[in-house]
Amino acid sequence: MAGQYTLTMIKPDAVSSNYTGGILKMINEAGFRIAAMKYTRLTREQAMKFYEVHRERPFYEGLVEFMSSGPIVAALLEKENAIAAFRELIGATNPANAAPGTIRALYARDVQQNAVHGSDSDENALIESDFFFSRLERF
Ligand code: RTP
Ligand code: MG
Repeated sequence: MAGQYTLTMIKPDAVSSNYTGGILKMINEAGFRIAAMKYTRLTREQAMKFYEVHRERPFYEGLVEFMSSGPIVAALLEKENAIAAFRELIGATNPANAAPGTIRALYARDVQQNAVHGSDSDENALIESDFFFSRLERF
């Protein structure tokens, strides 16, 4: 398959609620191929770096605190039109606005603790996959 790549994280709220299996099942059933995956925990500094595009936003400090509060699952996913397809699968940032049946509608708590991350562009998918995975960790 020569599809597009997107980077996801299952965020600390969803991992601690034991939603990892349910979320990975939805990802598999939607036809994404897992090209790399790891269970890890971000330090404050790593969370700051990952979300540095948002450093001027009012929610940045809370986001960094949350994203470093517990373990996550990071995964590189491949599918045709993966970036848009994955953002459709996860639903709107605020689960109150997320379409029924989306990952965030099913698993997110609120606008911050919203279960999953998905890349928003090819450029960021590349930056984010290099953040988590070496060449030897991608298949
Ligand atoms: P993500 O990057 O995690 O996939 O989420 P997104 O594109 O849907 O949303 P984005 O605007 O990129 O925001 C990144 C993450 O910051 C937290 N957030 N909190 N308190 C708030 O109003 C607020 N707004 C955003 C969420 O965890 C969001 O996913
Ligand atoms: Mg985003």
